[in-house]
Amino acid sequence: VKVGQQHYRSIWRDGDVFIIDQTRLPHHFAVQALESLEDVYTAIRDMQVRGAPLIGATAAYGFALGLAEDNSPKGRRHAMQRLRSARPTAVNLAWALQRIDRLLDTQPPGDWYATALTEAERICDEDVAVNESIGMHGFEILRDVANAKPGKTLNILTHCNAGWLATVDWGTALAPIYRAFDQGIDLHVWVDETRPRNQGAALTAWELHNHGVRCTLITDNAGGHLMQTGQVDLCIVGTDRTVANGDVCNKIGTYLKALAAKANQVPFYVALPISTFDPNIRTGSEVPIEQRPGEEVIRVAGSDEQGEAGSVQICPTGVNAANPAFDITPAKFINGYITERGVLSRADLADIGN
Ligand code: MRU
Repeated sequence: VKVGQQHYRSIWRDGDVFIIDQTRLPHHFAVQALESLEDVYTAIRDMQVRGAPLIGATAAYGFALGLAEDNSPKGRRHAMQRLRSARPTAVNLAWALQRIDRLLDTQPPGDWYATALTEAERICDEDVAVNESIGMHGFEILRDVANAKPGKTLNILTHCNAGWLATVDWGTALAPIYRAFDQGIDLHVWVDETRPRNQGAALTAWELHNHGVRCTLITDNAGGHLMQTGQVDLCIVGTDRTVANGDVCNKIGTYLKALAAKANQVPFYVALPISTFDPNIRTGSEVPIEQRPGEEVIRVAGSDEQGEAGSVQICPTGVNAANPAFDITPAKFINGYITERGVLSRADLADIGN
């Protein structure tokens, strides 16, 4: 994706590994080098990088950096365990680490670092190709819905950030939107702010706005009203883990949007690479849900009139806050799963698991 005149991926290697520090967006575009296993662990834990596919890609580089520090079997185990513990919900983290770990089994320790590094790069390149393909399949859905209302704007609602910042490039939920926009479809996106960390406001709105896609930021509570009054043609969201029965784990608040969509006959799609599908878990209730600090609910981050970043407290001192970061949308609320293999049904997904 282009930022200004320069093309960026959300992670890249140029000697060191570089990321865009997403905790500083949209106010500052800051590139940061990751030089060690601990740098990578911290970047994932503190959400400088986030979004399921990008967490996986970053962890893959982290594994290589860990092996550069210690390429003994103990070092390999440590790197794997440390990175795995950075965040619990997105399955891409374990997926990327396991993929590299299996490959290392076939190599002598002296080759582990180079093998892991090459595989991390392959994971990144594949992610870009997979998302481009998700974009093409999802585009067909958007085109069909747009064709059904000629001369009118196509209104799409999305939650959290499943754009290029959540992946290596393109995004999952936003890939079809970028493609449809680039193909000249008249569209507009309702962007849920996505409290408490505001990935919608800070990241999705920033991405779409940069690309020239017309979008409107809304509070997390507005979606139901917009759907009820016919202002949403379809919803597309990403996922951190979609399981064998088709249940979808995604950013907290996704479930409420799916309920509202079902009640108002608004199609609800989930976009995901197959690497986010976890056939080892049967139903959504078994997915580990990340519980984040209450402090994220108590305080809101932003920038003041002078452009200085900071945060303000929004409730009385001493109030308790709960902060479950993800929820489960049951498969029965989902119209289709947009993957690199096409738009799949719940039954198609179950087949992949077998
Ligand atoms: O907590 P985050 O910002 O990592 O959560 C991200 C999401 O919920 C995304 O929707 C999901 O990872 C899909 S990303 C293509």
